[in-house]
Amino acid sequence: MTEPFVLEWLGGPAEHHYRKARPTADLDWQSLDASVYPPELVAEARNVWMGIVVSEYAAIACFAEVVAALTAARVPLDLIGMASDFLADEVHHVELASRVVMQLGGAPPRSVDTTRLAPRAASNVTPFERANELVLRVGCVSEVFAGGTAAPIMQETGHPLIRAVYERILRDEARHKRFGGLYFEWAANFLNRAECDRLAGAAVSALELYAPFWRAARTAGDAGHYGSFEAHELGWLEGDKYIALAERVVREDIVTPLGELGIVIPPEKVAALFGH
Ligand SMILES: [Fe+2]
Ligand SMILES: [Fe+2]
Repeated sequence: MTEPFVLEWLGGPAEHHYRKARPTADLDWQSLDASVYPPELVAEARNVWMGIVVSEYAAIACFAEVVAALTAARVPLDLIGMASDFLADEVHHVELASRVVMQLGGAPPRSVDTTRLAPRAASNVTPFERANELVLRVGCVSEVFAGGTAAPIMQETGHPLIRAVYERILRDEARHKRFGGLYFEWAANFLNRAECDRLAGAAVSALELYAPFWRAARTAGDAGHYGSFEAHELGWLEGDKYIALAERVVREDIVTPLGELGIVIPPEKVAALFGH
């Protein structure tokens, strides 16, 4: 069910215990003064950062689903522990991105179906196969795509606060990106050809969910300048640069490592994702 996306904060003991897990980020929020930028740039930045809020929120649901699947499949306990730790990271990322949106003037309206944020594995599979598919979709595709595209965007970002927020998030995402590979180095011992082929198909369908991002960037073209500011000042990349970055991350950070693990995505499927 799609509903307006609003976040609540309880405070008191709940905040106290959460803060023990993830202390307040020591960032100078006031240094981001939206009034010095052209309104169109601020509006675009609010949209971009609201998208980050929603995708970080989805990442909480994704890792919750992954942890449940790992537990059902009785994978090595330290892998379960590693993934469990990511839940509070993702909550913290939602918090940080929300603060950016607030500094930019508040949240633009969004409707989100919060019951369908995590991917769903095929229903007729074993617990091990379910864990494989969820780790692949979340750990080897979503997290790698998000972290891989955000790192160069951070380097282009002009504003120090926005850069600092990216740095905080990416410090955690570096660990998140490692998880899928570590899981499959273990799981590879138990994968047969049919399961590898099934997972390659799941990887393609997971990547197809991201294609609207670079297709939208293509139609938007290079929306480069806002007054005396460049589009990347507040944390995103212009169309052409983003498309090239997305393709490089998909090929080098997702498709190639999966192939090395025996999960081979046919080259024509990769080419089709980018309209080649
Ligand atoms: Fe995150
Ligand atoms: Fe993450």
